[in-house]
Amino acid sequence: MNVNMWNHATTQENVEMLRARGVKIIDPAEGYLACGMTGAGRLAGQEDIVAAVREVLKTQRDLDGETVLVTAGPTCEDLDPVRYITNRSSGKMGYAVAEAAARRGAKVILVSGPVNLEVPAGVERIDVRTAKEMHRAVVDRIANTSIVIFAAAVADYRPAEQRAEKIKKSDAPLTISLEPTTDILTEVAKNKGQKIVVGFAAETDYVAENARKKLSAKNADLIVANDVTAEGAGFDHDTNIVTLFSRDGRDLALPKMSKSEVAQRVLDEIVRLRSVLHGSAALKRSGV
Ligand code: PMT
Repeated sequence: MNVNMWNHATTQENVEMLRARGVKIIDPAEGYLACGMTGAGRLAGQEDIVAAVREVLKTQRDLDGETVLVTAGPTCEDLDPVRYITNRSSGKMGYAVAEAAARRGAKVILVSGPVNLEVPAGVERIDVRTAKEMHRAVVDRIANTSIVIFAAAVADYRPAEQRAEKIKKSDAPLTISLEPTTDILTEVAKNKGQKIVVGFAAETDYVAENARKKLSAKNADLIVANDVTAEGAGFDHDTNIVTLFSRDGRDLALPKMSKSEVAQRVLDEIVRLRSVLHGSAALKRSGV
């Protein structure tokens, strides 16, 4: 490519967009170009191309022997046979984590709220609808897991009463009473033993403070905090912007990247924590 074409804002914005979607780009080499100009635009050297392809194809199997349970998506809390309370989660973040963990060698169980996504290859999916069903599914499957990652946006409250008939419209205001749901993460983390427990924190303000509070209040090993009001972060986007708050005091702020890339970085941090907390041996701990 001509150097001016390569450096043009439109080309660079498109390249950045591809990078954000997880596409690996091999930058052009610099030098004398066919058009007679000099600069960036030459086909990259064979060795650079081969090295980049090797890097992409390198399959990390650092989760071999682990059983990872991931929650993903929203929950729906019924009010009556017609209406329910839910949230904006698409499941993309949790599914990316499940897919990445399976690629890295783990046996993966994905407990998923209602979403419109394909089950990632090699992943066992359990479909649930409500917070109560998600809680049940997690408790039923938790025994043989070594890593549990809570990416789902679970309803904190559900209608105290579920009507059997459709609530009739009237001119009077309607008050709906809500009751808290069980915090699944907190319950699992209470008796986590050697398991590594990871939560996500969907925040709109005081992100770091709230995330650190959740890390200790929920007894998690890692909290992945996202400011869901930031451009390109949180619900339904293909990208996310997260900071990882680890139990051993490390905070890692990541730039905007694809949810697949975020998933890899979260797993990298889990692998690091695994060796900090339990030594470097793989945690092949069925039944722990
Ligand atoms: O699904 P996407 O569209 O890709 O969007 C991704 C996401 C924004 C949903 C994801 O990145 C995210 O932030 N997930 C957590 C959302 C959330 O419920 O955060 P929270 O701060 O309210 O909860 C903290 C943690 O407790 C979470 O790990 C949550 O799964 C867990 N929790 C919360 C309530 C509950 N009753 N049980 C739980 O286990």
